[in-house]
Amino acid sequence: MNRVCIVGCGYVGLVSGAGLAEFGNIVTCYDIDTNRINNLNKLVMPIFEPDLKELVEKNIKAGRLGFTDNLSLALKDCDAVFIAVQTPQDDDGNAKLKFLFTAVEDVASKATGNLVVVIKSTVPVGTSKEVLSYIRLKFKERDITASVEVVSNPEFLIEGRAVSTFLNPDRIVIGCKPKGKACELMKSIYKKPSSDGREVVLCTNETAETIKYAANSFLAMKISFINQMALLCQETGADIDTVAKALGSDSRINPRFLKPGPGYGGSCFPKDTKALVRTAEKYGVDMSIIREADDSNENHKKILADIVASVMKKNGYSNLAVWGLAFKAGTGDIRNSPATTMIEKISENNFNISAYDPEAMTEAKKWIKQTGLKVILADDMYKALDKAEALLIVTEWECFKNADITRIANTLKGNVVFDFRNILDPHEIEKAGLKYYGIGRRYETD
Ligand code: UGA
Repeated sequence: MNRVCIVGCGYVGLVSGAGLAEFGNIVTCYDIDTNRINNLNKLVMPIFEPDLKELVEKNIKAGRLGFTDNLSLALKDCDAVFIAVQTPQDDDGNAKLKFLFTAVEDVASKATGNLVVVIKSTVPVGTSKEVLSYIRLKFKERDITASVEVVSNPEFLIEGRAVSTFLNPDRIVIGCKPKGKACELMKSIYKKPSSDGREVVLCTNETAETIKYAANSFLAMKISFINQMALLCQETGADIDTVAKALGSDSRINPRFLKPGPGYGGSCFPKDTKALVRTAEKYGVDMSIIREADDSNENHKKILADIVASVMKKNGYSNLAVWGLAFKAGTGDIRNSPATTMIEKISENNFNISAYDPEAMTEAKKWIKQTGLKVILADDMYKALDKAEALLIVTEWECFKNADITRIANTLKGNVVFDFRNILDPHEIEKAGLKYYGIGRRYETD
């Protein structure tokens, strides 16, 4: 049985910790935030994520998972230390590595024996090697002769489905020295009791680091592509949903990540595309495709916000209801959410905005406090419509998909619905006497 220490109890650290415990490892999760650790010990999760609490509880009860704010304790007798701290976007677009190196320094100053450090955080190519040199230097300063290996093991979990994607990943990427001890250790850490055919990609640190950025940037590029196509369809009279369906039926293209929307958001795509562009600049390599995907994504949100503002003004409206604040359905996360960006832009017109999201209200309160925006948060989705003349849907929550259209029509003071996830039936909306605006959708009106 392997003993694993996880540094950082955020999205990646917490899910990885619980997931690795589920695979049979003995896992101690450490976080600098004592409050977070106390809550986790009381089974209070810091994030909304389906099945996470159950997985944590199950593995605590089985004696395989624990939480502590004492790093020395967490490091005791452990075979591998996973670093899973945030690497947010820095002012210049690069990944900010301050938190990562603080965590590495803490580990290097407390470790007492041979060390396998696993980098789970998303880091630019070359970081693992820097971490290795850094720890070796620290060990030298402390007169420690123990061996050090650094493994790159990027995480591909998807918010809202983090537990299932961790437990059943498409692939596990392990970047390390091929004949090093760490390589065998990593394979055994990821060995599930009921082993299935998950693909393990064994490669160098640099390759592993690059795979992560390539994967996220490729998906971001697909979304920007379909969003540009949607805007073209809007002008030409073609229908994006049919275009996307036909496109996706080509097995070389695949139907996933071809859903037009308000632009990609979240804590990963916006920052990882930017960081990849910065890395390419550093090496003098052209990464214009990804730079365009990112620029186009930023622009897309502005284009949609302008459509909302101009339709509102044309109708003499000044009250807007917004359904959805999370960057996508299934999460309470509003980081880089198209909804918040669009609201900030639309607010420049001094409209009154009321908003509702089934999971993101706590985060939304913090955002409103931070920005000083005059957005009123409603207790439920229909209350948000009370004084509004138009409704804007930004997140594809099930409750919005199943909305009572008659109730929307009866509650709204005006008659406009912007459906920027293409989740409602335009015919039904128009039958209820409302005017429908989707993205690049063409539907026959009788
Ligand atoms: C993304 C990747 O999908 C994960 O594989 C990766 O591990 C993760 O980043 C990470 O680097 O940690 P996530 O940010 O949770 O996961 O969200 P996605 O489900 O990928 O969605 C990202 C954005 O794209 C959302 O705003 C979503 O609404 C948008 N999107 C997605 C579309 O607009 N259209 C689509 O067809 C798919």
